[in-house]
Amino acid sequence: MTKQHYEPKFVEKLFDKMSSSYSRMNYITSFGFSERWRKQCVNEIEIGKAKVIVDLLTGMGECWKFIDEKANKNAKIIGIDFSTEMIKRAQKNTEKYKNRNIELLKENVFKNSIKDNSVDTVISGFGLKTFNNEQLTELTNEINRMLKPNGNFSLIDVSIPKNRVLRIFYTFYLKYVIPILGKLFLGNVETYKMLGIYTSEFNNSRNVERIFKKHNFEIEYVEYFYGCASGIKGVKKE
Ligand SMILES: C[S@@+](CC[C@H](N)C(=O)[O-])C[C@H]1O[C@@H](n2cnc3c(N)ncnc32)[C@H](O)[C@@H]1O
Repeated sequence: MTKQHYEPKFVEKLFDKMSSSYSRMNYITSFGFSERWRKQCVNEIEIGKAKVIVDLLTGMGECWKFIDEKANKNAKIIGIDFSTEMIKRAQKNTEKYKNRNIELLKENVFKNSIKDNSVDTVISGFGLKTFNNEQLTELTNEINRMLKPNGNFSLIDVSIPKNRVLRIFYTFYLKYVIPILGKLFLGNVETYKMLGIYTSEFNNSRNVERIFKKHNFEIEYVEYFYGCASGIKGVKKE
């Protein structure tokens, strides 16, 4: 893993390339768990009273279904993503949510236009692994900046489980099976191999927890299905 792999341009291109196969691959690479984990990630926090909910690293809006289920009907969802192809698909996805106010921002999370103290809830699914420590620190600053006092957040990503048997199986799958599936669905091995490399490097959300703890947040670590996914949830203190 080199610094270049965390460069926004590199990550943006990677997701542009993956966009056509991302939904299927995401489902398969998580053994069909990704939908359940998104739902659990949203359900970890109280969002019923939120007026503005930001879905950071929104992709094609994969988390909206679960936000939509729990949020007040007048709540607005703001999706942020910098990948042209993902945002195009997200735009199309808004058609499924005709009664929901959804705003899409094609922006880099680290240079976003969301106003200070204007957001009640931040959700983010499966985008933490492509950030290095420096970027995770920036992410903390951004979430802290945009959240209102008492605003809450829940973030999740796939992780390497601690259980030895699960870990061996999962690592093998990441290293050997996913690239082959990538070849099948996308016609190339390298793109999805990269996702495996990010996941191995990410390991789990303990590092994210450590970085977020430096801030004005009350944080809790969350494990999903024996640590095959992990995340943090928290509240911005007043
Ligand atoms: C793994 S996808 C997650 C999509 C979706 N949230 C989900 O639940 O599947 C990560 C997304 O984050 C976006 N992304 C990564 N770094 C970003 C950044 N710095 N600014 C904006 N979007 C970013 C990518 O373009 C990609 O669409």
